[in-house]
Formats: sequence, C-alpha cells, structure tokens
Amino acid sequence: MSQPSQPSQPSQRRTIIEPFRIKSVEPLALTTRPQREGFLAAARYNPFLLRADQVLIDLLTDSGTGAMSAAQWAAIMLGDESYAGSRSFFHLETKVRELTGKKHVIPTHQGRAAEHILFQVVNREGMVVPANSHFDTTRANCEVLGGLALDLLPLASLDPSDNGLFKGDIDIEKLERVLVEYGDRVPFVLMTVTNNKAGGQPVSLANLHAVRALCDRFGLPLYLDAARFAENAWLIKEREVGQGERTARDIAHEMFALCDGFTLSAKKDGLVNIGGLLCIDNDDWADTARSMLILTEGFPTYGGLAGRDLEALAVGLEEILDEDYLRYRIASIRYLFEKLDAIGVPMMRPPGGHAVFIDAGAFYPHIPAWQYPGMALTNELYLEGGVRAVEIGTVMFGHPDPAGGHDHCADLELVRLAFPRRTYTQSHVDYLVEVIESVWQRREFARGYRITSQKQVLRAFTAQFDQV
Ligand code: F0G
Repeated sequence: MSQPSQPSQPSQRRTIIEPFRIKSVEPLALTTRPQREGFLAAARYNPFLLRADQVLIDLLTDSGTGAMSAAQWAAIMLGDESYAGSRSFFHLETKVRELTGKKHVIPTHQGRAAEHILFQVVNREGMVVPANSHFDTTRANCEVLGGLALDLLPLASLDPSDNGLFKGDIDIEKLERVLVEYGDRVPFVLMTVTNNKAGGQPVSLANLHAVRALCDRFGLPLYLDAARFAENAWLIKEREVGQGERTARDIAHEMFALCDGFTLSAKKDGLVNIGGLLCIDNDDWADTARSMLILTEGFPTYGGLAGRDLEALAVGLEEILDEDYLRYRIASIRYLFEKLDAIGVPMMRPPGGHAVFIDAGAFYPHIPAWQYPGMALTNELYLEGGVRAVEIGTVMFGHPDPAGGHDHCADLELVRLAFPRRTYTQSHVDYLVEVIESVWQRREFARGYRITSQKQVLRAFTAQFDQV
C-alpha cells in the first residue's frame, strides 16, 4: 500500500497560520454587557463616538490600524529628518520605482491628500471622472471642484448574492459610452483596486487591459487608486485564468505598468499607520503637483511625512508582497466568511480582500432602510461582544428628505468588518463568529433607529441616534 502523501510545506496544510509571531503586545479591554450598554448610550448609539479603549475587537477599518514589523520599527531609527534631500526619500523613491515603474514619486500624508492634489492638477470646466467606483474621499475631492464622479460597475456587481470572481471590474460598455459622451471633459479614467465600496472585490487583469485599450483609443491617461494593490494582485493570482503560476509581485508590476499614475493610501497595503503617495509619469502634471504639495503638504522630499515614515513605508511595500503573508491575509477573510456562511448570515459574495460585508438589509428584513438596519446590527455587535464594525448603508450614503419624509436611502444596507493587517489572530475571529451567531439567533427582536441630531456633510461620523 502506498503511503498517503504528506503535506511538506505549511502552506499545503488545512490550517493557514499567521506567518509571524508576537514580539510586543497591546492589552485589550474586556468589558461587561452592562458597561457596554452605558458606553453606547453615552456615544448616542453611534460607534464612531465610542472611545477605542471601550472596544474589544476593532474592525472599524483596515486603514492605518495594522501592526508594523520588527524590520519596519528598525527602519524608523534610520529615518533622515533633513528638510530637503532626505536620504529616506531617495530610498523610498527607489523602492517605489522598482515596484511600479512610475517616474515621479510624491509622498503625501495619506491617500486623500494625493487625491486632492491630483484632482486640482487635472481640474477643468465640467470635469467628469469615470471609475469602477470612487472611494468616498475620491468622490468628494472631485465633487468639491465641481466635477462629476461616475461609478460604472455592471449591475451584477451590486448584487450581494452574485458570485462573480471580479466584481470590482468596470463595465467597459458603460465606460465607452461615457468617453464618447463627455469627450474632453474627462481628464483620466480611475480604477480602484481592490474596489472597497463594492465589497473589497478585485479587478481582473483582463479588465485593466480592456480599460487601457479604451484609454489609448481616446488618448486618455489611466490612474489607479492603489490602496489595496497587493490584495488585488493576490486575488488575480488565485482567481484569474492563466495567472496562478505568477508571483504577486509580477502581477502587481503588470497592474502598475498598465497605468499612467496612481494615488495610494499607504495606510492599507503600505503596511504603515500613516502615509500616502501620488505617482505620475507625466512631467507637466508632476511639476504642478509638486507646487501644490509645497502649499499644503511639504517639501517634495518629505511631502506630508517624517523621514522615519518614509523608511517604514519603503519596508512595508516590500513586506506586503510576501506570498505567505498574502495567502494568510486572504485566507483569514475567507475563514470568517465561510464560518458565517455556514450559519446562514447573508453577506456580500464572494469573500474579497480586506473585509467581510454583512448584508444588514437581509439580516433584519423587518427593519426598513430608513430605520437603519446596518446601524442596528453594528450596535448589536458592540453590545453582544465589544466588536466595532461600520455601517455602510443609508446612514453613510443616504440623506434626509428636505420635505421631512423618510431618508433617501442607499442601494445597499451593509455592515463592514474590516481586518487590520497582522493584528488579530484566529481565536479573535472564532470569538467574533460566536458573537455574530448570538446576534443572528436573536435577529427578530432587533429594533431600528432614528437620528436625533446630524450634520449636513458626512453625517455618519457624528450623527446621534435613539432606538425606535
Ligand atoms: N481610496 C480607497 C480605496 C480607500 O479605501 C481609502 C480609505 C482612501 C482612498 C483614502 O485614503 O484614508 O489614507 O486618506 N479608506 C479607509 C476605509 C478610510 O476605512 O476604507 P486615506
């Protein structure tokens, strides 16, 4: 009888382990339910208004909340804090050019600063910027200049139950129609990789090539919002026909080679707590961008950052493409997804890059969108287990009816559980599953909310609520 073959590498076993061990720990606050009831009431039922030390597992965002490596902390000591010509800048510039091939590397304090500068550089009368989806800050930076930010996803990508592998792809036919209709009013086409708003879903290489071809036909630059470029590259490797044998780094190279520039929030796949980049091939655009940078961020060799931040980012951009890390990262999202799927929890399918998105509208069908089912679920998760998630539904994207009726509601009522990088372990996820299961079992007793106070702009961050 032949011996059953033994897995010879950790990556071939069923359990995909965290490919790191812990050198420095941060204690978590274990609270009781009565304490959490008090904290949430004091926060006016808006988890954004909780103090972080009242939270046990914080899944509000994966932005700037990850753990840096020993190598990054060591690099921080090498930071050159010279105002001009810092060694750390040239180090980062070399790393970014190796990875992306882009000519001009401009550091900013975070992603939205890069977006703000880019939109000012290209601004024109009646500007129209088509994208797969604009992230909120990207959209806001376009609209504040009077521009029109268009999201061009195919309809199926907006359906949480659709199992498409590349639900971040732009609808090429819609894009072509927009380019014909708006002509010179379009300064560039933007592709967000992965697509945060559509559930952390990846964009395929095939789609990026098709967008590139259209841009060439219309003589337009293609830009990436590359916040989660490494997760996108890994999902291409896992899912796209013919890409499985390539390295994530090689795929990332190709993604960057297809664009003329990109903005990047380094707080995601830069593996740092603060930082951003604006990278541009066009010399004239880069000149203008640097002038704006000096106005609002800083001298071009530090942008909005300290020399030590530039060093940490240079190391982060190397570490993020480590395949053991990426395999674990995507597996940990899939792990949570599969556990919740087995219980029956409705979610945005399939599992994507940085987060699991629960379909709160389907979770609480008895709570109408204008009573914020996503807020109800977010608050139940906190009360049940000290877990902080974020509502991505009518509170975030809807708005009040000027005539005093129900809110204008969002298309989807989602709750995002975003995973900070290298921060929580599998036992945290197992605990999370238990918490969500308890909330699921008592779902018919949950009640909706009404807003008691809100601001005109970005109300989700500060709105106050009462239960109905
Ligand atoms: N682009 C994408 C796709 C993002 O997800 C974010 C931030 C930004 C740009 C802006 O970058 O925060 O560095 O200014 N997303 C965070 C989130 C805030 O929670 O999804 P930033």
